[in-house]
Amino acid sequence: MQGAWANVLITGASSGLGRALAEACARPGAVLHLSGRDGARLEDAADACRARGAEVRPVVVDVCDATAMDRWVAGAGRLDLVIANAGISAGTGGNTEPVEQTRRIFDTNVTGVLNTALPAIEAMAAQPPGADGLRGRVAVIASLAAFVAAPGAPTYCATKAAVQRWAEALDASERRRGIRLHAICPGYVRTPMTARNAFKMPFLMDADEAARRTLDGIARGRTRIAYPLPTYLGARVLGMLPIAARAWIFSRMPAKQADGTI
Ligand SMILES: NC(=O)c1ccc[n+]([C@@H]2O[C@H](COP(=O)([O-])OP(=O)(O)OC[C@H]3O[C@@H](n4cnc5c(N)ncnc54)[C@H](OP(=O)(O)O)[C@@H]3O)[C@@H](O)[C@H]2O)c1
Repeated sequence: MQGAWANVLITGASSGLGRALAEACARPGAVLHLSGRDGARLEDAADACRARGAEVRPVVVDVCDATAMDRWVAGAGRLDLVIANAGISAGTGGNTEPVEQTRRIFDTNVTGVLNTALPAIEAMAAQPPGADGLRGRVAVIASLAAFVAAPGAPTYCATKAAVQRWAEALDASERRRGIRLHAICPGYVRTPMTARNAFKMPFLMDADEAARRTLDGIARGRTRIAYPLPTYLGARVLGMLPIAARAWIFSRMPAKQADGTI
């Protein structure tokens, strides 16, 4: 089951999961508002969506720029589905996480999500319900990292936990206004983000499959969309262990690398 949303806005559509989501939503009759910072890669993604028959409106905009995001989202016209996907990732590399990296990940993964979702919710509240009876849906791309405070990626885990909890909690009240929120929690997905990981990634899946599962879960109205099941269960068990036991397990695993270029 996959929904066929007419007006879709996706951040971080120039690469990886965002691009796969855009292509999966592309069809004749669909209007796609796509963003990223890299204009050439964004245009390439837009062309791939146009080839599937969609009308595409690509915009180069940084999700950390609240004013520009407000202008873009509020000016997009009707929005049936907004996906706050843009995100960055880096770890400690086994050392202290750089301060600048911590701030940048919070800015992008938390403030950037708010800069997308808040104007979207405001715009949706003012638009009439669609054929499905909803004013609109906002999906936030969190991660299975939301469920584990992994010592190798403190900031990444914290930011993903923040947006996962925010979306799930807000869904309860916003659905009374006809707006749904979805917390998307993927495991490892084959994208440029994970291509840098030097460690083994269990149940690594292609971005197309992750996009399919994401859109299928949204169409089914699930608030939390977590996949694949074995990694989800592993993350939940790890997350529930006593902190010392979890630290001991993670001390035997390689940490995600710190990256000054994120
Ligand atoms: N890959 C995984 O295993 C995995 C697992 C769970 C969750 N996720 C989440 O899925 C999302 C997409 O990740 P991905 O794996 O597809 O990574 P990716 O290939 O590196 O793509 C990240 C996207 O985010 C955009 N982006 C980053 N910072 C931005 C900013 N400040 N403003 C606007 N756009 C920005 C990038 O666009 P530009 O480069 O054009 O700026 C790019 O399109 C992220 O939120 C990530 O945390 C990924």
